[in-house]
Amino acid sequence: MSDSRLAVVVLAAGQGTRMRSSRAKVLHPIAGVPLLGHVLATARELDPAFVVTVVRHQRDAVAEAVDEYLPSSIVVDQDEVPGTGRAVEQAVEALPAGFDGDIVVLSGDVPLLDAVTLSGLLDAHRRALAGATVLSALLADATGYGRVVRDPSGEFERIVEHRDAGDAELGIGEINSGVYAFSVAALRTALPRITSANAQGEKYLTDAIALMRSTGAPVAAVPVAEPWIVEGINDRVQLSEQAARLNAMIVRRWQREGVTVHDPRSTWIDLDVTLAEDVELLPGTRLAGATTVDRFAVIGPDTTLVGCEVGEGASVVRTDATLAVIGAHASVGPFAYLRPGTELGAGGKIGTYVETKNARIGRGSKVPHLSYIGDAEIGEGTNIGAGGITANYDDLAKHRTIIGSHVHTGAHNVFVAPVELGDGSKVGAGAVIRKDVPAGALAISVAPQRNRLGWTEEHRAGTDAASAAAASASGTAAASGSASGTAPGS
Ligand code: UD1
Ligand code: MG
Repeated sequence: MSDSRLAVVVLAAGQGTRMRSSRAKVLHPIAGVPLLGHVLATARELDPAFVVTVVRHQRDAVAEAVDEYLPSSIVVDQDEVPGTGRAVEQAVEALPAGFDGDIVVLSGDVPLLDAVTLSGLLDAHRRALAGATVLSALLADATGYGRVVRDPSGEFERIVEHRDAGDAELGIGEINSGVYAFSVAALRTALPRITSANAQGEKYLTDAIALMRSTGAPVAAVPVAEPWIVEGINDRVQLSEQAARLNAMIVRRWQREGVTVHDPRSTWIDLDVTLAEDVELLPGTRLAGATTVDRFAVIGPDTTLVGCEVGEGASVVRTDATLAVIGAHASVGPFAYLRPGTELGAGGKIGTYVETKNARIGRGSKVPHLSYIGDAEIGEGTNIGAGGITANYDDLAKHRTIIGSHVHTGAHNVFVAPVELGDGSKVGAGAVIRKDVPAGALAISVAPQRNRLGWTEEHRAGTDAASAAAASASGTAAASGSASGTAPGS
């Protein structure tokens, strides 16, 4: 049941110059979700009647993210008047005229702020019947932030921006986090009256708060327990710091849910990942997208899984996999590369130096060594010999290779697609399969081997090879150094 007296405004119109990026700041991801996605998720947790997201810089891309992460949000385009005050003013205009509740203002670049902290802010705000309640934080280094100026009795007085602050004000350690609760009525009165007369030529939302106070409305600043909760991201240093913090929280959560994580700092888990009890993650593991891992599976070391599904008891070692399904008790790696559309059946194996793509490998089937299997379907209980290659591409189109169940292919086979091998068939080593192989048949495509006896002694007389051959023929062990040192390359 939503809080009909609550609206949330998310500010996401700014450019984020300090990111030095062609991508809008709020679209940079941490834990696989853009900063704005984290903020919208928190907004939704508050269960407000309305969410309004204000956009301008890279408007279409940002609006698309709003549509993905909180489609119910109203999107408002900020006009050419700059500043947080103008952004909130336009957001308020987008709310129904009859809405007379409270507004929580969030910044699109503060991803770790949680709904519990915000509920506390809102409760304090409502209890005090305040015009505005500012979420503040005490920082050792307050550079760049607006400072909270209090009067001698400790009451909130105003916020002064870093660029507008005097020396005494610059010494203040309590900063404005840029997150607030407002009474919409107080905002409707104050916002039209603020101006852009300041160092940045912007309409400052913070000036509206000073104005409320001067008209007698109660205003207050409430510090958060720990400053990182409200830390905004302005550059890529902060981006990595907040990403690491969030990751540490995610890893801890899974540990408490029964996942063994050997090295939390080198283990990266996206927000959308799902892990079962008794999963084991070895160092250097990155689980991204909507990856799911079932019980007793062991992942890593040095493994990246993006949008993969791993079955119970599977083992995935030193592997890079995207959009792949790995069956229960299957084994993958070390050094495997699973591209989208790979499906490995229960108990199957994709081994060392194997690349797969768009390939269904059936229950118990194995591709153990040095292979490329693409656009292929392999039945159950089949073994692909070392070095098996599906030649799926004829430089115009991709073709499929279909290999049945209980097939044994030889070492170093090439399957020139489209081609089909029937159930129970066999292929000799080194064969190039260009024609279908019927069920139960043995396919051999290499020319019969001829041995020309005495070739080395005839053509390589005087070399170590020739004397070794001679010694072998006479049944004597070749004595080292018996050749006269004329071997090529010696
Ligand atoms: C703002 C606060 C400052 C506070 C700091 C916390 C004001 C005047 N100052 O400063 O007191 O310490 O946040 O991080 O509010 N935005 C818009 N439209 C605009 C300008 C900004 O939507 O015209 C959005 C930005 O995308 C961002 C947020 O508002 O999400 C904050 O804007 P930013 O420019 O970072 O404000 P600061 O100067 O950091
Ligand atoms: Mg900022």
